[in-house]
Amino acid sequence: MRKLIRGGTIVTAEKSYVSDILIENEKIIKIGENLSQDDCEVIDASGRLLFPGFIDAHTHFDLKTITTTADDFYTGTKAAIAGGTTSVIDFATADRGMTLMEALDVWHKKADGKSSCDYGFHMSFSEWNEGLSKEVDLMTENGITSYKLYMAYDNLRVSDSDIFEILKRIDQVGGIVGTHCENGDMVTQLTNQLKGEGKLSPKYHPVSRPAEVEAEAIFRYLTIAELAGVPVNIVHLSSKLGYDVAEQFRKKGNKVYIETCPQYLLMDDSVYEKGVLFGEEDDDEFASAKFVMSPPPRKQADKDCLWDALREDRIDCISTDHCSFNYKDDKELGRGDFSKIPNGCPGVEHRPALIYNFGVLTKKITKEKMCAYLSTNPAKLYGMYPQKGVIAEGSDADIVIWDTDKKWTISADNQNQNCDYTPYEGANITGAPEKVLLRGNIISKYGKIINENKGQYIFRGKSILYDKK
Ligand code: URP
Ligand code: ZN
Ligand code: ZN
Repeated sequence: MRKLIRGGTIVTAEKSYVSDILIENEKIIKIGENLSQDDCEVIDASGRLLFPGFIDAHTHFDLKTITTTADDFYTGTKAAIAGGTTSVIDFATADRGMTLMEALDVWHKKADGKSSCDYGFHMSFSEWNEGLSKEVDLMTENGITSYKLYMAYDNLRVSDSDIFEILKRIDQVGGIVGTHCENGDMVTQLTNQLKGEGKLSPKYHPVSRPAEVEAEAIFRYLTIAELAGVPVNIVHLSSKLGYDVAEQFRKKGNKVYIETCPQYLLMDDSVYEKGVLFGEEDDDEFASAKFVMSPPPRKQADKDCLWDALREDRIDCISTDHCSFNYKDDKELGRGDFSKIPNGCPGVEHRPALIYNFGVLTKKITKEKMCAYLSTNPAKLYGMYPQKGVIAEGSDADIVIWDTDKKWTISADNQNQNCDYTPYEGANITGAPEKVLLRGNIISKYGKIINENKGQYIFRGKSILYDKK
């Protein structure tokens, strides 16, 4: 049966306007005022905002590092869509010795038939050779058009010459490479130095990965990209120092896309002293293990810089880097040695609420910019636009009916994320996804899943490398 969403305010990256939306066969077939409701299931959205389904282009579900993440595709995608995220792009990783097709197969087995939102995969290289280069065409045929490289983590990082070759190869197929920019050698060196001095608690994690380590890697990465003559993407940017380097390269005419995450907009390194972001300080020094992620949150000036950049369209996407580990069993592995704490934190469920509450309601960004950073830009950059990322005739009917007045508090007790904590515990939020539609199907209501396992693989095309100012 057709669905008619009546009277909501459609938000796009450019403007907002009141209109009805007619949905048939999973697609938006008409947008207009006073559309006929004959033979339709009518959903009243008056007084509500209608966002295109949010896209989280940076998740790690069912990932084994020191231990395995708390969320797999079953729980992670339920959490995603409960919060308004209708598409995720997770990172498939070809470990050294693996082919790209093997890695893709592993990730399909993790996700297929278990996902409640739509999903795609970036492919991560941990080495480079002729065989992998040949497989890039196969990746394109399989709907993979974006890639990740690591400049840190000894088991994953690639050399500068490999980065150069990979960037050129991916550019040939119209894809985009996003890179984890931290100088891996310096992280290891600083970590060993701190451990040698007996500095072992979680609060030394950020000391082992200062902003300089990110900024140096960004400088090197963008130099390599300039020599290769290709556009590139920086994932999970955390620091002003790193941002300034990116701007320096943009001023020379290089095309540089930037992703940041809620944790770098909302947290600073005081979480490593207090062990909480909101509320009463935790007396247990180990509580700050909940905030061990890489890169780590920085200073107030860094947060200000990133918000300013968002206000001026200088950052492209806000994703989460959702990589959840339980506090009790997983983070515990690093008690007595911060370098053994599994890196990462949960966030896929709460990103839209956090950005709406702390970004839009505080007037740091407009709701249209929120739409751009959480939906339209990632859809373009990762080859899904206009199927995803916009409410338009012909697009998938992925729609978030947003209640701007709903007041609630983020807590581990009310979350869908399969994790025993949330770093945003106690955050008082105004705004919530009243209903979330995935290709026309109502999947969740106010954070409760009513229809699971409807997610499909997104076969992605070439990146739309829109111009930067
Ligand atoms: O701490 C983090 N971010 N863990 C996930 C892996 C990564 O670096 O993106
Ligand atoms: Zn990373
Ligand atoms: Zn990540």
